[in-house]
Formats: sequence, structure tokens, C-alpha cells
Amino acid sequence: MLSTTSAAYTNGPTTTKSSSTTEHYDIIIGGGGLVGTTLAAALAKNPTLADKRVLLLEGAGEFKGFDASGPYQNRVSAINKNSIELFESIDAWPHIEAARYKPVKQMQVWESNSDALIQFQHDNFASDVACIIENDLILDAVYATVRASASNVKVLNKSRIECVSLPGQTGSVHSQVQLQDGRNFSCELLIGADGANSVVRKQMGVDVFSLNYDRMGLVATLDLQPEEAGDNSVAWQRFLPTGPLALLPLTEQQSSLVWSTTVPHAKQLLSMEPAQFVDALNEAFCRQYPRVELADLALQALNSFFGNSSSQHLRQFPPSVRDVQSGSRAVFPLGFLHASSYVCQGAALVGDAAHRVHPLAGQGVNLGFGDVRHLVETLAAGAYAGFKLGDTQHLTKYDRKCLTKNVPIMLGVHGLHTLYSTEFSPVVLLRSLGLQLTQNLPPIKNFFMRGAMG
Ligand SMILES: Cc1cc2nc3c(=O)[nH]c(=O)nc-3n(C[C@H](O)[C@H](O)[C@H](O)COP(=O)(O)OP(=O)(O)OC[C@H]3O[C@@H](n4cnc5c(N)ncnc54)[C@H](O)[C@@H]3O)c2cc1C
Ligand SMILES: *[C@@H]1O[C@H](CO)[C@@H](O)[C@H](O)[C@H]1NC(C)=O
Ligand SMILES: *[C@@H]1O[C@H](CO)[C@@H](O)[C@H](O)[C@H]1NC(C)=O
Ligand SMILES: *[C@@H]1O[C@H](CO)[C@@H](O)[C@H](O)[C@H]1NC(C)=O
Repeated sequence: MLSTTSAAYTNGPTTTKSSSTTEHYDIIIGGGGLVGTTLAAALAKNPTLADKRVLLLEGAGEFKGFDASGPYQNRVSAINKNSIELFESIDAWPHIEAARYKPVKQMQVWESNSDALIQFQHDNFASDVACIIENDLILDAVYATVRASASNVKVLNKSRIECVSLPGQTGSVHSQVQLQDGRNFSCELLIGADGANSVVRKQMGVDVFSLNYDRMGLVATLDLQPEEAGDNSVAWQRFLPTGPLALLPLTEQQSSLVWSTTVPHAKQLLSMEPAQFVDALNEAFCRQYPRVELADLALQALNSFFGNSSSQHLRQFPPSVRDVQSGSRAVFPLGFLHASSYVCQGAALVGDAAHRVHPLAGQGVNLGFGDVRHLVETLAAGAYAGFKLGDTQHLTKYDRKCLTKNVPIMLGVHGLHTLYSTEFSPVVLLRSLGLQLTQNLPPIKNFFMRGAMG
């Protein structure tokens, strides 16, 4: 067990009365992924919290940085407006803007068993629906902010958290962390940003609901047929019986793929020769699946009822894929996870440590950036009001804000996954009508748009 005997809070590393050394911080963030690193930057940039000493512990090796002149990376995220505002507020956006990203003007979602189609865009394409940004570029940008705040934020790489003890459980006033290599740290508030298998979450003892989707997401960087790509500003998603297939634009002639499918199929796609893979991909985008006639008829009726006044029903097709960049294919397991609470005395969760969703709506990391905003606001208000950083009474406000915002989105994403994993006719009928009604009823569509865009 770790022990911290110094009751008085000091602003520097403290040595406990026992022989072991324990460095003390105000806040320790466990996990330097997209969300944990952004949180470190946001804490440093908040005027009320800028005097807090923050330690960021990342289990993996040193982040190698990002080369904007190199080939596009296979891990990218659809980043919404709220997340971009967060980057702006921590001075990370100019760094991204100066490198490379692709604005998406429209999203087109359609399904395989009927003609149902939905298109998301702002009126007259006045502003972007989202931006596609490489994950490592985001990390590079937020790291730059963290480095600029080196006087109060310290980063340790190759620092894997082995175990954690929390004040409620030990009677100690501080949260404590022991690394795999034996080093010990203590803090007022430990924040778990350590992803879906969070060690911090496990120690918090919060109820967790999780599901394995038995699906994998295959990602890859693709070259498109130039004559079909246009300005390549549409994000395409087709729901297939095995899972959704999405093309996210990177440049005028390149897109990033997220293909969710069964585990055996994903493994097969991963090991195919490039030419064979490209054929399989093009086929998946245009293959005719068994039609549910009733659904098609119902859609025709629905569309004639609403009339097709605008260009809304002009079905477009995605550009075909010419090639896959060598070595860009990779697969990730997909699942759902919901922690019933994000806080306890001395600890809080952010990002995938608290919630994990299917990538079909491009929401995962955006929810995590939302957590960062709410947590920093809550901690700043709490510090201003004289609360201790790890006080549950105050942290509960963060919990409530996030659960209220995240749970409906998570249920929506899970519901869509479930709804589209079947070819059962009545379900196809209902979901096609649902999709088309959404397309036809601006208020509902606007509601969805707000969800997608933050
Ligand atoms: C195929 C795919 C496509 C996706 N596309 C999108 C998209 O378009 N838009 C979107 O919003 N989201 C998307 N997501 C989801 C998104 O990737 C995640 O939500 C996001 O990466 C979560 O970030 P995080 O920092 O919370 O967790 P992670 O990325 O899991 O980071 C956790 C970090 O903690 C470190 N760590 C773990 N354990 C320890 C430990 N014990 N000690 C120290 N460090 C530790 C890890 O090394 C890692 O760096 C996608 C996900 C997948 C699988
Ligand atoms: C960390 O704490 C553990 C348990 O109290 C102790 O065994 C270990 O020696 C400490 N490590 C260091 C480097 O002080
Ligand atoms: C990673 O750790 C090594 C030594 O442990 C250090 O020299 C290096 O600067 C660290 N890198 C970053 C990006 O923090
Ligand atoms: C509906 O849209 C199609 C394609 O844009 C067009 O050919 C047709 O005339 C439209 N019908 C009505 C009733 O507006």
C-alpha cells in the first residue's frame, strides 16, 4: 500500500516520512491519448486552474510528432464544431489549420435493403458539417500547447499505471498511483483518461455496462478515381447488413475508410491483396442487397406525399476507389461501454474510460472532448468557490452535465447499430421510413444535425 503522511499540501514534490518517495501533484491524468492530452492542455490554459501542478502519465513510448508532408495516416476523426471551439480556446486550432484537414460539407447516409436516404448539410452549404483530422495531428497540436505550459504540466511517457488507490478506500486524503516500474505519485484529483480498459475506472468501483459488438472496424487510406471525386467534400456512409461502411474525405483525391464488419470478414479484408481489397470495397458500396419491396413502396408513397421540391432526393454515389495505400489497413474491435458514474471522491473519468460507442456516427472522441470542456469548467468553478479538487460534492456537477449530454447520444448510436444489423423485413420497413422521415422533416433532421455537429 502507498502511504502519504504529509497532511499539509505543498507545491512541490514531497517526500513521505516512510522510506519510499512519492511525488505529489494537484491533478494526475492517467492516459495521454487524444482526450487526456487535450485535458492537460485545457487545464493549463484555464486562468483559474493555471497554477495547479498537473502530471500526465502515458503508458506508451514517446509521441513521435506529426509530419504534415508525409502520407496521410489511417487513424482519423470526424471532429465537430464544439470540439473545434475547444481547440481554438487552447490555441491548438492554428496548429491544425496550418497543417492539413478536410472540411465536410455534406454527409450522405443510405441503406442497402431499400432506397432510404438521408443527406445532412447546412442550408446552401453555408458551413461545414464536420472536419476530418488525423488523430496524430490533433495530438501534435495539443502537445504543443502542453509543452508551452511546461512550468505547470509535466508529461511522462512509458509510465504505465499499475495500480491506484483512492481516498474513500484507504482513509488517505490523497489519490495514489503506482506505476509498473514501481514509481509512486499522489494527487488531489486523479483523472482516468486511460481508455476503454481504464485501470482508474476499475478502482473507482462504478457500475459499468459493456457490450462486445463482435464487429471490427477496418481503417485504411484510399486513393479515389480522380474523375469521380469532384472536390470530395461529402462523407459517405452505407449501412450494410454486416455493419456500416464509411468514406471520410482527406483531400480531393484521398479518403479514409472505416468499414465495420464481422470479425472473420475484417480479418479476411485485412489479409487480401490490395487489388482484391479494392474490388471488395467498391463492390460493397454498390452491391444490390435483397430489397424489401414493401419498404421501397412505402418510401415512394412517403416521398410523393412530401413532394421532392428541392435537390434533397438527388441520390449521389460515392466515388469509386482506385487503390489502398500500402500498410494503411488496420482493424480495431468495436464495443459499447457506459460507466454509470464518472466521479468518486478523488477521481473522475473522461473519454473512452467513461464511454465507448460504435464509430458509425463519428461521436466517440467528440464526446470525450465534451467531457474535457465540462470537467475544466466544473473544476474552475469549484476552485473559485473554494472546493478541493477531489471533492465529490463538486465533481458530481461534472457527472450530471456529462451523463445528461452523453447518454442520449450513446443510446442513439447503439440503437442505430442494432437497427441496421438486421435484414428482417418489418425492421427494414420501419427504419427506412424512419430514415426517410428524418430526411423529409426538417425539425427532426435539424435535431440530428445538432447532435452530429455538437
Ligand atoms: C475504427 C474507429 C474509428 C473511429 N472514428 C472516430 C471518429 O471519426 N470520430 C470520433 O469522434 N471518434 C472516433 N472513434 C473513437 C475514438 O477513437 C475514441 O473515442 C478516442 O480515441 C478515445 O480517446 P481517449 O483518449 O479517451 O482514449 P484512448 O485513445 O484509448 O487513449 C487512452 C490512452 O491511455 C493510455 N493508457 C491506457 N492504459 C494506461 C495505463 N494503465 N497507464 C498509463 N496510460 C495508459 C493509452 O496508451 C492511450 O494513449 C473511432 C474509433 C475507432 C475504433
Ligand atoms: C512505491 O510504493 C510501494 C508500496 O508502498 C513501495 O513498495 C515501493 O517501494 C514504492 N516505490 C518507490 C520507488 O518508492
Ligand atoms: C519521453 O521520455 C523520455 C525519457 O523517459 C524523455 O527523454 C522524452 O523527452 C520524453 N518525451 C516526451 C515527448 O515527453
Ligand atoms: C422529383 O425529383 C426528380 C429528380 O430530381 C425529378 O425528375 C422529378 O420531376 C421530381 N418530381 C416532382 C413531383 O417534383
